[in-house]
Amino acid sequence: MVKISIIGAGAVGAQTASLIAQRQLGDVVLIDILGDMAKGKALDIAQSLPILGSPVSVIGGDNYTLTKNSAIVVIVAGIARKPGMTREQLLETNAKIVREVTKKAVEHSPNIIFIVVTNPLDAMSYVVKKVSGFPRERIIGMAGILDSARFRYFLAQEAGVTVDKVEALVLGSHGEEMVPMLAKIKGKPAIDIIGSEKMKKAVEKVRNGGAEIVHLLKTASASFAPAAAIAEMVESITKDQKKILPCSVFLEGEYGVNGCCIGVPVVLGKKGVENIVDVEMTAEDEKKFKLAANSIREMIDHAEKYIK
Ligand code: APR
Repeated sequence: MVKISIIGAGAVGAQTASLIAQRQLGDVVLIDILGDMAKGKALDIAQSLPILGSPVSVIGGDNYTLTKNSAIVVIVAGIARKPGMTREQLLETNAKIVREVTKKAVEHSPNIIFIVVTNPLDAMSYVVKKVSGFPRERIIGMAGILDSARFRYFLAQEAGVTVDKVEALVLGSHGEEMVPMLAKIKGKPAIDIIGSEKMKKAVEKVRNGGAEIVHLLKTASASFAPAAAIAEMVESITKDQKKILPCSVFLEGEYGVNGCCIGVPVVLGKKGVENIVDVEMTAEDEKKFKLAANSIREMIDHAEKYIK
């Protein structure tokens, strides 16, 4: 069994640990600065496995020696934006946490593949790339799978069909400048089925998808859908499925972007990012993608200050 370590045993980290263990993708280590909390959640998950029929081990704590020789490290440690906190303050706090976590993880497992989840996602993926010095194939940000799933959900709602009849892709940044595209319902362009008004509504809802959940939960953010997206990535890597999935990766000229992490479709296999897939964009989507890249670049410039 490979070892998969999850740093951050909060809502997303714990749900991810549970899904990975249920699906028997590897032995799981859950790490948090709140060591007892991580240990407690790991025990709870481990005790669900005799019922769920999974033989993997799940342990937790605050000591990174537990993560030794992991194949994959998921970074989901950080804070959520609190009332009164500026984006810049969030960026500073999480960049410092992600820098520290990256260094400690690399010390114990020099060959890991990182899956980055902490927000602001694209900038944090860049922080991991910079701090680890790893080749870009081994740093993969989770965003596009989640945003695409939300898009599929909202399109299905507008069309009155089940989600399995809907295909969709969201590229670009994990934020306001995301680029929802390639939407199809029952194999036909979604706009032909639901019309432009409902299409606009679905797009608006995707952009607002995370915020809507925060608004309802009040003191927490989404966790079940993000965890499902992370598990999908872990599965494609550990089983070498080579699925094409939208993820945030460091581009070196692809899509006309250089030196920043942004969401594009990639092939995920046992080596991490095995290929960056080209999709054709309309001129309008291309413009939106460039805008997304510019806003991520601004965040990266700020993040650079905190990771020296
Ligand atoms: N090392 C390890 N764990 C840490 C550190 C650190 N330096 N700093 C904070 N943590 C832990 C916290 O103790 C907490 O248990 O990270 C966990 C974060 O959990 P939650 O607050 O429940 O946040 P969650 O909803 O899981 O989201 C985590 O993922 O989706 C993103 O935007 C989200 O950036 C956020 C992250």
